[in-house]
Amino acid sequence: MSKTVYGFPTDSMSEMEMLEIIAHKRQRDIDWKRGRAFCLIYYPGEAREKAIKAVFDQFYADNALNPTATPSLAAIEAETVSMCADLFHGDEEVCGNLTTGGTESILLAVKTARDWSRKHRPEIKNPNIVIPTSVHPAFMKAFHYFDVDFTVAKIGADYKADVQEIEKAIDKNTIMLVASAPAYPHGMMDPISEIAALAKKHNLLCHVDACIGGFLLPFVKELGYDIPPFDFSVDGVTSISADLHKYGYSPKGASVILYKNHELRRFQFSLYTKWNGGIYGSPTMTGTRPGGNIAAAWASIKSIGRSGYLEMAKATMDATKQIIEGIKSIPELQIIGKPDMSIVAFSSSEVDVFLLADELNKKGWHFERQQLPPSLHFTVNYIHKDIAEEFLKDLNECVQLAKGKKLTQLGNKIQTSIVKGLSNILPSGTIAKLQKNATPDLDNENKAAMYGMMGALSGTSDLDEIVLDFLDDIYTAKP
Ligand SMILES: Cc1ncc(COP(=O)(O)O)c(C=O)c1O
Repeated sequence: MSKTVYGFPTDSMSEMEMLEIIAHKRQRDIDWKRGRAFCLIYYPGEAREKAIKAVFDQFYADNALNPTATPSLAAIEAETVSMCADLFHGDEEVCGNLTTGGTESILLAVKTARDWSRKHRPEIKNPNIVIPTSVHPAFMKAFHYFDVDFTVAKIGADYKADVQEIEKAIDKNTIMLVASAPAYPHGMMDPISEIAALAKKHNLLCHVDACIGGFLLPFVKELGYDIPPFDFSVDGVTSISADLHKYGYSPKGASVILYKNHELRRFQFSLYTKWNGGIYGSPTMTGTRPGGNIAAAWASIKSIGRSGYLEMAKATMDATKQIIEGIKSIPELQIIGKPDMSIVAFSSSEVDVFLLADELNKKGWHFERQQLPPSLHFTVNYIHKDIAEEFLKDLNECVQLAKGKKLTQLGNKIQTSIVKGLSNILPSGTIAKLQKNATPDLDNENKAAMYGMMGALSGTSDLDEIVLDFLDDIYTAKP
């Protein structure tokens, strides 16, 4: 039997040695502290980080699984959920839990809906949830995990959920409708009041995915922006997911799932009362629950407060406005739709946006590449408050650089489009597979051709295989 790439260490390593190794490993990571990441990172600044971390540290080793062992954490969680319910115009009946992220909150919303239907709609054997095409793939994960059917309703030309398409998709098996506030790809709010009214009319649950917008929209509205109601103030909304680790500026591993009432939340919980190990009751997906993250979520809200969130929302929206104006002034680029908050996606009829993305990457900027249609996606937050000018200067330059280039002509099946996130690190096996189908120039700097090929395979089993190869490879140790 051959040995693993890394052996289990015999001796301890000093803190200094470990930090040296980590610094080396981090050399290729995105430089988010300088505002170079328009995705993944939300950062409230060093002073706030220090205060939040101090509370996190208090619960470094604590486990919120057993509320009798750490009643403090149970109280902190309930208090945090209550503060979130207040922000989202809930009443005393609104309840919920903290989770490790948007995906877990969404998984729980789907599991809750499924189990609710088993009790309240027992005639439904194959429950179905109707989603607009723009919802986050966390829903597909939930449907897969919980074996729930789903129907996708096309979004409108304005990139928002189309209420008529949703109504058409409702059938006798439908248990829940979903709307986003806003949807990730183009940053636009679905018509939540109308979707919730539809849910009510058909006696369905209605989940609002405010994972990305939840902790920004209320403050943006308070600043005077035109934000339609999206929370429990909307009649018919029965659950909401909102991520503290995004615009709540908590450390990663924090989201909230809220329900209209306690009766609904009971379907979220998981029990086993016949175990030799005792009576087991667990509120969320995980068993052990990280005490530090729960306490840090509380600390984020407490230390930032309404005034701090307002200040950060203003800085975020000012930077977004500047970036939108700058993009609009570049004739080659077109903003997709009318972003409601701080998510901006643009496409181009003149420049290959994936070639443009390569140029921007070379200058150190990180963001998402999107498909259907090909576009680049920028999530602006507080960390970008001082970088808009620098970014726009580089964007202008990169548009001119990309304009002069054309994608290598690829095989006839293969056109230009995209798959997110696979740019820098595709395994050699994947490249070999792709090269069987085409003969592009695949060098280390220019990945647009690669995106083009994968985009052409979008939705096919070939692409599924490539993504599985990628995941398998990236999570395998290398010397
Ligand atoms: C609208 C929306 N829902 C759900 C999620 C999933 O959140 P997480 O990555 O924390 O699981 C995201 C993440 O960006 C999102 O934007």
